[in-house]
Amino acid sequence: MARIFSGIQPSGELHIGNYLGAVKNWVALQHEQESFFCIVNYHAITVPYTPEELRRRTREMAISLLASGLDPARAAIFVQSDVPEHTELAWIFNTITPLGELERQVQFKDKSSKQEQVMAGLLNYPVLQAADILLYRADIVPVGEDQVQHLELSRVVARNWNARFSPDAPYFPEPQPRLTPTRRIVGLDGQAKMSKSLGNTISLLDPPTVVWDKLRPAVTDPARLRKTDPGEPERCKTIYQLHRAFSPAAVVAEVETKCRGAQWGCIECKQVLHEHLTAELAPIQERAAVLAAEPERVDALLADGAHRARAVARETMTTVRDRMGLA
Ligand code: AMP
Ligand code: TRP
Repeated sequence: MARIFSGIQPSGELHIGNYLGAVKNWVALQHEQESFFCIVNYHAITVPYTPEELRRRTREMAISLLASGLDPARAAIFVQSDVPEHTELAWIFNTITPLGELERQVQFKDKSSKQEQVMAGLLNYPVLQAADILLYRADIVPVGEDQVQHLELSRVVARNWNARFSPDAPYFPEPQPRLTPTRRIVGLDGQAKMSKSLGNTISLLDPPTVVWDKLRPAVTDPARLRKTDPGEPERCKTIYQLHRAFSPAAVVAEVETKCRGAQWGCIECKQVLHEHLTAELAPIQERAAVLAAEPERVDALLADGAHRARAVARETMTTVRDRMGLA
């Protein structure tokens, strides 16, 4: 049976880009395959951060994931630092990862250009990610498009380790990304990908009024200046993409016709989107409010997830240490 692993950083709120690009897929896949979903706090400390905030955000991320539909009865949902084998395997993988592979990672180049001083952890970030995945010998990794290059590196690591320590029968599978139809959600600026660091997001927990305050000024088809101008849905990156993600097919068809025919202005179109988007978020927000009132229950679910993950992690490390002459 295939195994699924994915991770998310607790570095900000869960936004609808994360939700559509990754988490919604996790919720679907947990019914099909043995699944592990990890809140990767060791990854989050590779850039400047505040300890108290990290602690708070880790729990908030757990609440958002559970509220989105991850089911602790089906999937192991846990915090990375509760399973110390992640860092142990990451160190080992550092010894078989060519430096050049790390230096050419786009995310490293992007993030390091924004730091005054670049720490080694930022460069080695994808090695820890490879360890996350391979610790569970997972073959399928549901992520957004921005993670495809990191997964390529995970396959290089698996291949290098297998070649050296398990040449006859590969011990680690080569993990493959599993993308959603909405692999890259565009932000409210209509240009860059939706990302917490760019401030162009709608949070999964934004109340309807806040969602509207964000949708109303969101960038639409730049060529459509007046309501009476016919629009081109494909050029309206954000709003049209969100309609396709949240509105029923009949409404999407109506949007296309009424935009092209200048029957709807952008505000009307956004009002219709607001209705369907907030309808999908409402039950998630209700569940999140219930969980937020029960922090001990959330902690207990995470402890149980870590316990289950650790059983698999220990097994892998026993084999790895044995093959490498470390035990
Ligand atoms: P992060 O918040 O960077 O830890 O990302 C968590 C997951 O959400 C990863 O699988 C990302 O690929 C995915 N993701 C983040 N932003 C977007 C976006 N704008 N569109 C689609 N997927 C995204
Ligand atoms: N790098 C991923 C991101 O920024 C988070 C992550 C860490 C991850 N470890 C992982 C994703 C393992 C998938 C599998 O989104």
